[in-house]
Amino acid sequence: MNDPVPSAETLRAALDGLLDGLPPRQAAAAVERLIANYRGVTPTDAPILRDRADVAAYAAYRMPATFEAVHSALEAFAEAVPEWVPGSHVDVGGGTGAATWAVSATWPGRRPVTVLDWAAPALDLGREIAAGNPALDGVRWQRSRIGSALSIESTDLVTVSYVLNELSEGDRGSLVDAAASAAQAVVIVEPGTPDGYARVIEARDRLIAGGFRIAAPCPHSAGCPIVPGSDWCHFSARVSRSSLHRQVKGGSLAYEDEKFSYVAAARFPVAPAPARVVRKPQIRKGQVLLDLCETEPALARTTVTKRHGDLYKAARDADWGDAWPPAE
Ligand SMILES: C[S@@+](CC[C@H](N)C(=O)[O-])C[C@H]1O[C@@H](n2cnc3c(N)ncnc32)[C@H](O)[C@@H]1O
Repeated sequence: MNDPVPSAETLRAALDGLLDGLPPRQAAAAVERLIANYRGVTPTDAPILRDRADVAAYAAYRMPATFEAVHSALEAFAEAVPEWVPGSHVDVGGGTGAATWAVSATWPGRRPVTVLDWAAPALDLGREIAAGNPALDGVRWQRSRIGSALSIESTDLVTVSYVLNELSEGDRGSLVDAAASAAQAVVIVEPGTPDGYARVIEARDRLIAGGFRIAAPCPHSAGCPIVPGSDWCHFSARVSRSSLHRQVKGGSLAYEDEKFSYVAAARFPVAPAPARVVRKPQIRKGQVLLDLCETEPALARTTVTKRHGDLYKAARDADWGDAWPPAE
């Protein structure tokens, strides 16, 4: 029998028990402490995730969002490499394993998976949470420090999710180079901020210099057409909020939108989108305005009107981050 495909709900169910027994105010306080630590200076010399309380707060509060961001990036990548399924996966700085869940949601089934991180409590909790996902049975949760000595075993796919942010410039370079020498495909995800985008572009340039082609989000492997400092390429993934989120952030919205920047690249031939929607489409009466990044590296706005028939219907359904025009 095939394993069920894990979803955000399966992950949520696996996370639900984490803060059990912790009074809600204490759980919220743990999250706030973590947020404050993350606002502090990075990189740090020692892990920010020091003990089980830190890690449980991280997993309950952030993992659903990092899972959704990585899942969106991987879905866009999978569209550009429709025949490809990773036979093995290494998640560097994998923490509690959000990207391993996202990989198994994108390409169901079992494969050898290794999660590398320097924070033992994160790896321990990741192993515990993964018990809720049969595809992650055999994952190796391994302590490893990212730095010039980092070595990554040969693998089909390397993911690096929300990690570059915590590294010095030198370590970011070592990590991307190690990923490029180990893997057939590399997917890097960062927060959708100007700085996150800048780190993604730095990594993108390095991957291209290392012989990779960009599969997503860019429709090309040429330079990014965004003038540095004028804008930043980022996308948005919807995340349903838990009661812990409502408690920490207030408000009663049932969801929030996680903004992220990413790059997915491969050593093998890829078929990137002809263009990608890089902002939330604006729907007007009888027309849709789409901001696109195009194959000839340029940003352009296109207006799709009722006159365009089926294309107009597709434009009304188009989302920020989608390929354009949609595949048949
Ligand atoms: C923000 S968390 C992201 C975790 C996970 N990838 C995700 O998307 O949810 C950053 C992770 O990078 C790890 N990390 C930071 N610096 C590291 C280093 N120098 N060596 C190994 N791991 C590191 C941290 O321990 C933490 O688990």
